[in-house]
Parts: sequence; structure tokens; C-alpha cells
Amino acid sequence: MDKLIIEGGTPLHGTVPVQGAKNAALPILIATIVAPGEHRLGNVPDLVDVSSTLSLLGRLGCSSRGDFSDLRIDTSRVAHSEAPYDLVRKMRASVLALGPLLARCGSARVSLPGGCAIGVRPIDQHLKGLEALGCQFELSGGYVNGRVDKLRGAEFTFDVVTVTGTENVLMAAVLAEGTTVLDNAAAEPEVEDLANFLNSLGAKISGAGTRRMVIEGVSSLRPPESAYPILADRIEAGTYLVAGAITGGDVRCDGADAVALAPVLTALSAAGCTITDGPGWVRCARTGPIRAIDIETRPHPGFPTDMQAQLVALLALAEGTSHVRETIFENRFMHVAELHRMGARIDVDGNLATVHGVSQMEGATVMATDLRASASLILAGLAARGSTELLRLYHLDRGYEKLEAKLGGIGARVRRVAEGRGD
Ligand code: EPZ
Repeated sequence: MDKLIIEGGTPLHGTVPVQGAKNAALPILIATIVAPGEHRLGNVPDLVDVSSTLSLLGRLGCSSRGDFSDLRIDTSRVAHSEAPYDLVRKMRASVLALGPLLARCGSARVSLPGGCAIGVRPIDQHLKGLEALGCQFELSGGYVNGRVDKLRGAEFTFDVVTVTGTENVLMAAVLAEGTTVLDNAAAEPEVEDLANFLNSLGAKISGAGTRRMVIEGVSSLRPPESAYPILADRIEAGTYLVAGAITGGDVRCDGADAVALAPVLTALSAAGCTITDGPGWVRCARTGPIRAIDIETRPHPGFPTDMQAQLVALLALAEGTSHVRETIFENRFMHVAELHRMGARIDVDGNLATVHGVSQMEGATVMATDLRASASLILAGLAARGSTELLRLYHLDRGYEKLEAKLGGIGARVRRVAEGRGD
């Protein structure tokens, strides 16, 4: 297994090209099922989770070809409607196959996603929303078995704001008879990107990006001629902007969207960074001290939970004490124990982390526990004295494309080596 070796202490300067958004690419790839034919997608990120999604589509009978800048997905034939355990356990987003398969095939058999490092993550809202459209489910042998005679539009209010829950119901509602109204829906930019993609297939969705979506069902959908470009990844961009901030450098992200990143940029400027932006780029520089701030993660347009770990790494070096409350997932402070190994002083009490800023962190061997925790430890390593070794890189590869090359391009000394190999 590979590990990453990071030599800290270099202020980072330069420009990073932003990848397509993982959390838009996954639902959009699976959504191709609702429109039989050949789809063309552009700006698809080269990630492990994308490859897992293509394997899932392959298992269902679809085929794909081309590279990620112009990916062709042929969904003319969907021979199976099962998302098996061996795929779902690797990537819980496979549960997104439920809605499209029910819409396309009238049945779906999807392995229940188990627990996850960051929380229990039930799918009750996915099932309740699809039941409102007329689907019936029974759970057996660790699988959700769903079937529907005819999808019918309905009014449904989510009990909690759920990103993939909203996406699953949306992908079924587009082919339901009549109108569906989804209230307390997720408004993440990635949900909006999925809605835009579905509208490009002929769907009639309005209100995407707000808490209330209205979907006029249609009888069929078909792939457009032109390629659909996946949205830029605001979380990847946010991570690199924090790399500039934590090293006292100046980093520009090309392809980043300042509007989608607004809550992150607000936090970074409150923490003492200078933020500038223009059409298709965002830049973050820091010359003065990092200021302590208080943050609470919320559904979009609140501060994204997927940037919480990265911000904790930054605030670990702030002047003063910061408070970070994680309100989305019940177990998303696993990076804290590893940051302690680097000399950070952070107290965790339930969903509140009290971050007592220190003047310097030290390189150490640390272990990744989940995708964004990996990013947090890399950021800490970039600012730390000496070298840091990050183990369990498979978490990182699920969500960050070409990370060593991108960091190297802005002056970082980062390399991937096979575990057991030293310098
Ligand atoms: C999506 O996960 C993202 N994943 C996550 O990104 C992200 O952290 C999360 O949204 C929140 O923004 C993808 O888009 C593939 P939720 P999702 O359903 O949809 C509870 C990353 O790092 N809930 O919005 O699974 C749930 O337990 C990943 O890229 C229910 O109770 O998250 C959580 O507390 C990690 N019942 C809250 O809602 C349900 O049926 C929000 O979860 C569904 C969710």
C-alpha cells in the first residue's frame, strides 16, 4: 500500500486546475440510466469512485468508452437492476442506483450501505421519498428490494436535508406521472448540477439549488447530442485554497466558482486570508497571522461539512481559540487524534471541537481515516516542521485527482512511495 511523504514549511505559490466535482459526477453517471442511449460527459474526474461507478453501470449492462474529458456512456441496454454488496460496500453512493433503476426498470435490488467512518448514515429518507412516488420496498439479506408499477408525482418533505436522498428521489420523479414537489430538499451545487443534467435530457425541473423543487414528470428522456460538462469541484478547490492559507502562500484555483465556494471563502477571509476572484478562478493568499474563528457545518449554503477537517487543520495554527461544531455527521473528528500527533491542541466534546491554536506543528507518521481527514492531514503536513508520512492513501484517491502533481506544481515537496520504502 502506498504512503505519502510530505516535507513541510514551504509557502505554496501558483495555480491549480480544479477537477470535475466527485459529488456531481457520481449521481450524473448513474442518472444516465433514465435516458436510454449514448451519453457524452466532459470534465469527469479521474477518481477511484468514478471507476467504481463505471463498474456498477457495467454490471447493469451499460458500457462506457473514451477518456474522462469526453466520456461516452451507453445505457441503451439495462439488463440487470441489482447493485451488489461488493460494489456498494466500496462506495455507498451506489445507493443512488435505486431511483434511476426503479424509474427505468420498475424494480431495483440494492445492497444496503453499511455504516461509515463518519457516521451511521441511514437511507430512510431515500426510501420514504421513493415510497411517496408509489415504490414499495422490503429489506432482506442486507438488500433493499424495490418495485413500482407506475411512478406517480407527489408532494414530499424530507425530515432532514439529505444530498443523495434528494438526488435519488429526483431521478425517479422526472419520469413519474404528474407533478412532484420536494420540500426541505438539499440545495448543494452538485444537486443543482444533477438537475441541470436531467433537464438537458428533457426533464422539467425547477427550483434546483433551493429547498423546494418542482418536477413535472415526462414520459421519456433521451441523451442530447452535446457533451455535458461536470461542475468544478468546490471541495477540491477549497482544499487547495487552504493549502495556500496554511503555508502562508498564495494559491489560485482555475475553474473554481466563487459563488459555490462562498461559505468557505467567508471563513478564510475571517481567518485572515485575502480572497480575490474573477470569471472561473478564485485565489487565496495569507501574509499575516491566522485568526481564530468559530464555524458550524450546515447544509448548503451553510459551511460544508466536507471542508470541516481542512479548516480544523488551518485553525490549529491560529492565534487564539476557535470553535468548530459539526452538525451533519456524528463522527467526523477522526482527524483530530492524528493532528494531536503533530502537536495540535484540540479538545473534542460531542460535536464540538475547541481548537487551541499553536505556533508550530511537527511532522509525524499519521493515518487517514476517511477522505477529508486525509486532506486535513496533508494540509497540516505542508505547514509542519519536518516530514509527515500519511498512511492509508486509498481514502484520498477516492476524491482527489493527481494530488501530488497539483501540489508539486505550486511548490510543495510531496511524493508517493510504496509502504515499507523510506526516503
Ligand atoms: C453527500 O453524502 C456527500 N456524498 C458527502 O460527501 C457529504 O458529506 C454529504 O452529502 C453532506 O454534504 C455524495 O454526494 C456522494 P446526506 P450523503 O444524506 O448524501 C442524515 C465526501 O467527503 N440522513 O446529505 O450520504 C445523515 O445521516 C462525502 O465527498 C438520514 O438521517 O449525506 C447525515 O447525518 C462524505 N437519513 C445527514 O442526513 C437519510 O435517509 C446528511 O447526510 C439520509 C441522510
